[in-house]
Amino acid sequence: DGALWVDADGRIQACRHWQGLSGLPDDVEVIELPVGHVILPGLVDMHVHLPQMAITGCQAPDLLTWLDQIVFAEEAKFADGAYARRISEWFFRELLRNGTTTAAVFLTVHPEACNIAFEVAERCGNRVIMGQNLMELNAPEALLRPATQLLAETEALCKRWHGRGEGRLRYAWMPRFALSCSEALLNGIGELRHKYPDVYLHTHLSEQPSEIEAVLQQFPNARSYTEVYERSGLLAARTILAHGIYLSDEELDTLREAGCGLAHCPSSNFFLKSGRFRLTNVLRKAVPFGLGSDVGAGPALSMLTVMRDMQFRQDPVSALLYSATMGAAKALHLEKQIGSLAPGKEADFIIVNPFARRGFGVPPVSEALTIDPTNLLSRLVYLGDEQMIAATYIRGRRVH
Ligand code: GUN
Ligand code: ZN
Repeated sequence: DGALWVDADGRIQACRHWQGLSGLPDDVEVIELPVGHVILPGLVDMHVHLPQMAITGCQAPDLLTWLDQIVFAEEAKFADGAYARRISEWFFRELLRNGTTTAAVFLTVHPEACNIAFEVAERCGNRVIMGQNLMELNAPEALLRPATQLLAETEALCKRWHGRGEGRLRYAWMPRFALSCSEALLNGIGELRHKYPDVYLHTHLSEQPSEIEAVLQQFPNARSYTEVYERSGLLAARTILAHGIYLSDEELDTLREAGCGLAHCPSSNFFLKSGRFRLTNVLRKAVPFGLGSDVGAGPALSMLTVMRDMQFRQDPVSALLYSATMGAAKALHLEKQIGSLAPGKEADFIIVNPFARRGFGVPPVSEALTIDPTNLLSRLVYLGDEQMIAATYIRGRRVH
């Protein structure tokens, strides 16, 4: 029966049995939770696309066809600021409703839509890592810009937003994937990464065989997909690579040595038939990784359902919660700030009611209210979705 003590700055002062918290200062407000509710670290989504919220669940035979037939048309709508605002308001509130306190978010190529996304996230209280989607090649004209324009625009956006909200908002250089980029664009992004070492870099890597084949054709001097990014200086600490399914041992070594983090997106990998993340290889090579919903290829924002999709193929449940909290925090180099309820960290946490469940019309019987931690985790994974999230706090502030 625990207690979490958060100070006025939104930092965790203590996390222990409630009896150990006697003698609190008079001005501390005490909030008692109903029996059976639990406090967990806020969930981290390492890879999600804001402009794909409206197209979740729209199937296509493979990744490149899905991008051409479904995704690009939707993303083009973000040239309209009013549309961008509507979806942004929906998206950032939905993250909080799902208990996601930190998210690494893909946006579109439109600077105005990027500004709108940052404004909404700042106001709603989200912790985010995001930036302009950089695309020069291989998509409809409406989504493409010359490299020089993209590099100028993304640097201006970074200067405006990186570190705002007392560090809650962080910028990322976001080349969509190798196929969207010329070598000149990748090199320019590498220079920006070098110039701003605490800014993130987030892109896709090695998701489907036909994609990899096209990448090696477009970059004939590279021996692997990973090497395309390596040669332009994109691989470093705070580089997030989504998917990373078909990586050789050599590529995994390169990623670990550079300090990169992988975003494993099991729901998306099912949906687009991308293949199976080679978890044993990633663990053996000690490449840090966390989980990503990859909405809209992933059908749901709930990291509990993403944990379930990972479990259907792989791992014990304790490793799943880790992958959606502390594991992701480490992969993002944010483990000193978030990822657990350790004293001194920023108080990002969720209150979970493991008995709230769609389709249960009657209140739970009281005997069910005691549940041991192993069963609790299992229940979260097999039954969990946003219904179980009773409240969400970021830096001590209630945001849902
Ligand atoms: N590769 C390049 N763009 C995308 C995208 O939007 N979604 C996924 N899943 N893979 C990509
Ligand atoms: Zn993606």
